[in-house]
Amino acid sequence: MPTDKPSLLPVTNQTNEKHSSRPTYHLSVKTYDVIDPDYGRAGPSTRHAKSHLKGLLSLGAVTSVALVVLASSSDTACLSSAISRLPSTSSVSSVVRWATGYDSSVHELRYQDEACRHRPQETSSEIDDWIDEERDISHRAILDNIGPRAGAIPGLVIASPSKSHPDYFYSWTRDSALTFSTIFDRFLPGPNSTAYAHGDPSLEPLIREYIHAQGNLQLLSNPSGTFLDGGLGEPKFEVDGTAFHNSWGRPQRDGPPLRAMVVSQYAEYLLDRKEPFDSTYINENIYNPKTVMAKGSILKSDLEYTAHNWHRNSFDLWEEINGLHFFTLLASRVALERGAALATRLSDPGAASFYTQEANAITDRLELFWSPDRNFISATIDAPRFGRSGLDSALILAFLHAGEQGDGVWGIAGERALSTLISYVDSFKNGLYKINDVPGDGWNGAIAVGRYSEDVYNGDGMSLANPWYLCTFGVAEMIFRIAIHFEKVDQIPITPISLHFWQNVYPSAKSGDVYQRGDGVYEHVLEKLAGWADGFLLIGKSFEGPEGSFTEQFSRLDGTPTGAKKLTWSYASFIEATNGRNEYRHISALKRD
Ligand code: NOJ
Ligand code: NOJ
Repeated sequence: MPTDKPSLLPVTNQTNEKHSSRPTYHLSVKTYDVIDPDYGRAGPSTRHAKSHLKGLLSLGAVTSVALVVLASSSDTACLSSAISRLPSTSSVSSVVRWATGYDSSVHELRYQDEACRHRPQETSSEIDDWIDEERDISHRAILDNIGPRAGAIPGLVIASPSKSHPDYFYSWTRDSALTFSTIFDRFLPGPNSTAYAHGDPSLEPLIREYIHAQGNLQLLSNPSGTFLDGGLGEPKFEVDGTAFHNSWGRPQRDGPPLRAMVVSQYAEYLLDRKEPFDSTYINENIYNPKTVMAKGSILKSDLEYTAHNWHRNSFDLWEEINGLHFFTLLASRVALERGAALATRLSDPGAASFYTQEANAITDRLELFWSPDRNFISATIDAPRFGRSGLDSALILAFLHAGEQGDGVWGIAGERALSTLISYVDSFKNGLYKINDVPGDGWNGAIAVGRYSEDVYNGDGMSLANPWYLCTFGVAEMIFRIAIHFEKVDQIPITPISLHFWQNVYPSAKSGDVYQRGDGVYEHVLEKLAGWADGFLLIGKSFEGPEGSFTEQFSRLDGTPTGAKKLTWSYASFIEATNGRNEYRHISALKRD
């Protein structure tokens, strides 16, 4: 199977009799195996083919295109979305797709003859091309911030290459785990509905380097304690893999459960793969059922730390408030639930029941965060004591990274999540950020949002805080995930608690209404929801940095990128949000067919 760069066959120029002034182009695009070793799927080959196509279209001379694509299925999807956005003056006469299913061992050609169907949700948006390119940029930017390429030891993720104003040249446990969760999604072959149906096996060595490096960090004595006594709560480390000794908001107890979540996903994957050497790897590097906390048992050590410490105060994910936090607890709960499942698979029943017991205890405690009077979840117990309303992006991030699926009490599409989301977004209204004063509908009703409305951290010191990319993209993703749920269940019930959320996209909504697929309102509401979510991504598009880079924040006054440059977490949040968008578009297209 050829793996060279695509050959774009010469365009044959034929005279179109009917529109005598306009020639018809028959464009054949051949993109041979476009799995690019450096960039994975949708690498430069696809971009090259797409931009060639775009160039021709922008000439305005194209009235008809015949396209032959030889590519992996994800690339044909990319290209057909480009075709579906042809200017209205042109028409696609036929599209014949030859697709090779990507499978590294079998390169068998499969023939797919598919009419180019007009998919409305793929034509409407100018942001599609930007998203495709920005996803590549973000993935590369993440890889550039890991290991020796970033000036760190192998497997360590730097928060940002910025070494002064601010100095973010450290490795945070939280940022690293969330980054590897994004990388893991790309590594793991998923169902068709995900952006990565085929996975990217080339990322496995990097995942192992991460696990190895984290295992060594766990053992370091540091200002939070020793390996066996509190040290796992240390939030950040030097990039050479040594402890950080200056004063800091410590401990932060979200790190171990976030790390456990991603490492347990990898362990589950290895157990499913059923290779004998994989069990050895698990035993020696991830989870040793014969020990409690031990070197080489990184996952069990994190689970033990989490199970014993979740109820204790610690600093929040923004490193500012020492208290009990929804984000930390939700992450702890999921980590322990997954940990219990894994312990069972690894014949460690005692651990499994302990983790389950603690996860249940967390569930009981979560109720304290819900405020029926204010109709939202508070990010921290006793938030007013810290001068906070309790509305915080940490809530959105909690649902994204540790929420339940569906519309249960702590589900991402549950009424509490919906009312919390809208309350959080609303807390940035009333002129807080000048850039949100846009005429009319602005970005489909979306606004730029930051960590929490009382924030004063400007990215380098204390003055006026700004909106953050990762918070704004987080809202986009959460809305997509909510839309995915309601696409799946074919109906939207409006409850007293969720009413305000739904009125934001459908002002006539009333409590007690139930919209059903096919009744028109249901379709309208979901379309508005997806458009609203796109608005939050469009804000990122409006204020991205040079060459598609993302800092931590962008100015509340004029949107200029500010704060730590090339923030790894900003890129990861963009990828996650657009994964959500892709999944939403996939399911909504299926349901409408
Ligand atoms: C740096 C922290 O990382 C950030 O979260 C915090 O807001 C500022 N310091 C101020 O404490
Ligand atoms: C400051 C943020 O508040 C914190 O959450 C993050 O871990 C660090 N910056 C590093 O990105």
